[in-house]
Amino acid sequence: MLPDAFDVGPVRIAPNLLLAPMSGITDSAYRALLKDLNPGAIGLVVTELISVEALARRDRRTFQMVRFRERERPLALQLFGAEPERMAEAAAIAQDLGADIIDVNCGCPAPKVTRKGGGAELMRRPAVLAAILRALRRVLSVPYTVKIRAGWDEGSRNAVEIARLAEGEGAAMVAVHGRTRAQLYAGAPDWELTARVKQAVRVPVVGSGDITTADGALARLRTSGVDGIMIGRATLGYPWIFREIAARRRGLPLPPVSAAERLASVPPPWLA
Ligand SMILES: Cc1cc2nc3c(=O)[nH]c(=O)nc-3n(C[C@H](O)[C@H](O)[C@H](O)COP(=O)(O)O)c2cc1C
Repeated sequence: MLPDAFDVGPVRIAPNLLLAPMSGITDSAYRALLKDLNPGAIGLVVTELISVEALARRDRRTFQMVRFRERERPLALQLFGAEPERMAEAAAIAQDLGADIIDVNCGCPAPKVTRKGGGAELMRRPAVLAAILRALRRVLSVPYTVKIRAGWDEGSRNAVEIARLAEGEGAAMVAVHGRTRAQLYAGAPDWELTARVKQAVRVPVVGSGDITTADGALARLRTSGVDGIMIGRATLGYPWIFREIAARRRGLPLPPVSAAERLASVPPPWLA
């Protein structure tokens, strides 16, 4: 039997299908739309990455970015930053705003993020990541999680070590996008490495990368052994994918999507 739910601390993730964070895309309107198109079939949504500096200085635009609708719950608010005290300050604000989970971005490849020590750069600075997680533990009562890549580059595929470190510092879930920072979005995500991360820790592990069909999603769950999967880009042209997965896992045929619903969407180039 494939697992169909898991817990992040006290937060039940059911089903174990997550909407991946996508900067500039997964705002509240997008997340709520996906929940509406996939009733009961998305277990967790994650905000776009939010700057701790901007949140901590109570920047107005950033406060608008972190607003969410009640029907999005459970919701993880993803932060990026590099300075432990600042992270803690912003995480406390995010918790007060009602986030169910605080996620630390350890995967963003953008130079404007990594140059300042955040995103994927944290995978090269495990001591800083540990200090950040310790700072979060001090101020949070909601669970905190990390989203990582395979590593920085071919020479440092340290996802297993980083996942162990995060677990040791109290992270309640690890999400893995199995590409290195150097790969950006090229090449194939390494699901074998993601499976090794799953074997290495006791907290739930969620896999991410190149899931584009319902049957492909179930195959990933089966072969990698992860507790859950995340889908990002495929939702752009195929926003019903979660309800299709929910149907396929019950052995049902793909639920019909009306022609009008389909016509309202244009497939993204990587699905064409
Ligand atoms: C446009 C875009 C923006 C993204 N923004 C974020 C982000 O803010 N935080 C994050 O952790 N991952 C981000 N990602 C990575 C995705 O969450 C996901 O791990 C990756 O795209 C692989 O999954 P997919 O093939 O299902 O899209 C982004 C990806 C894309 C394509």
